[in-house]
Amino acid sequence: MNDVLKQYVQVEITGNLKEDIAAIFHYHQDEETLKHVLKVAEEAKRISKRFGVEPEEAEQAGLLHDISNIVPVNLMLEVAKELSVKVEEEEYKYPRIIHQKLSRAMAEQVFDISNPNILNAIECHTTLKSHASQLDKVLFIADKLSWESPEHNFQHEIRQKIENNELNQAILIYLNHIWEQRNNLKLVHSWTIQAREDMLRILSQKEFSKLNETIIESKDILDMLDSLLREPAPFWNWFYSDRSKGIPFFANYPDENLISYFENEIIPQGNMLEIGCGPGRNAIYAALKGFKVDAADISEEAIRWAKERAEESKVNVNFECKSAFDLIPKPEYYDFVYDAGCLHHIWPHRRIEYLKLIYSTLKTGGYFGLTCFAPGYTEIGGALELSDYEIYREKSMKGGQAYSKEKLFRLLEDHFDNIEFRSMKACSEDSGKFGVPFMWASLWRKK
Ligand SMILES: [Fe+2]
Ligand SMILES: [Fe+2]
Repeated sequence: MNDVLKQYVQVEITGNLKEDIAAIFHYHQDEETLKHVLKVAEEAKRISKRFGVEPEEAEQAGLLHDISNIVPVNLMLEVAKELSVKVEEEEYKYPRIIHQKLSRAMAEQVFDISNPNILNAIECHTTLKSHASQLDKVLFIADKLSWESPEHNFQHEIRQKIENNELNQAILIYLNHIWEQRNNLKLVHSWTIQAREDMLRILSQKEFSKLNETIIESKDILDMLDSLLREPAPFWNWFYSDRSKGIPFFANYPDENLISYFENEIIPQGNMLEIGCGPGRNAIYAALKGFKVDAADISEEAIRWAKERAEESKVNVNFECKSAFDLIPKPEYYDFVYDAGCLHHIWPHRRIEYLKLIYSTLKTGGYFGLTCFAPGYTEIGGALELSDYEIYREKSMKGGQAYSKEKLFRLLEDHFDNIEFRSMKACSEDSGKFGVPFMWASLWRKK
């Protein structure tokens, strides 16, 4: 560590980044910055996965980005020069801007950070820069979202873009905000201007690929409708990434109705496919009961978890990270297809293909088990009964679509006989079964 830093870093660096950062800010009695960096680290980590960023890198960048705040602002330029930080002419107009480069130098020298992804993101966390990496962008936006009150108008808009996985659009909202105020600001850094030009170019390229957005055949209509709704995989990866979340169906228990089909010997053993298997609780149970199970989910995180569970249970399940639409067709192969809460997330315009797939993959007389959201339970965690049209008007599935009994029969009765139709039975945590009253449990047989 350069001698000039020693006077600021009076605590022992243990290697536990979070604790070391806290100790340094406590020493300088700067609780405000500590609170801020913890918030930025958490936000950056939260949104990292949906933009293909390593959560650990996002968190470390967040913790370190404002470490130079322990140097008084009037000394920042001096310390920066001492550490051989390159100061641009324009930065003398507003010396505080140097804190981003100074934080980078301190991350290297005080905390031995050598990961260039992290260092680069810290270096441009205030201004951004051209050709920014995903981590640069994630840290930049997490910083802007973590500013304390008063809440700026644009923060709400940025948040919405982030929730829609539109990182570049979120960034452009902020950069436009800066651009509009350029005449009142001490400095609009050239990196910021270049970053804004980048964003405009990237987004307009998307816009001008409009020629490709031409509807020529029926398939193009489906693609167009896809484009109105959120890509499912990033959401589900995020959803399953924190296993400690108290989501009831994260527990490794099979559905109560599935248990009843097997225990009452309604469904004979054979080949089974589970679509949208999540972390595998039903597929593993069925395999333990003697089924030969293929199970698929769109989320890599869910499949990783499912494979770990199968290994713990010493059971063989063919888990695949695939959407239902990418499965290799196995016509008339399965004796049983199970869908535990997948259909209610399938976009209505893709449902036709989805149900065809289930039908074609089942043997004649094969069974289709389905649990899905029932209407009327929004207050206790159930979904809204959105009409199919409403989903496109709202451009959202709103966390899943509740189906009325009539609608399910209309969708299925031409091709399937209904064997059982009831509400799922509520099951307590210690019952070893999963069951919530706001879902239908239904069993069908292919005609
Ligand atoms: Fe900062
Ligand atoms: Fe910050």
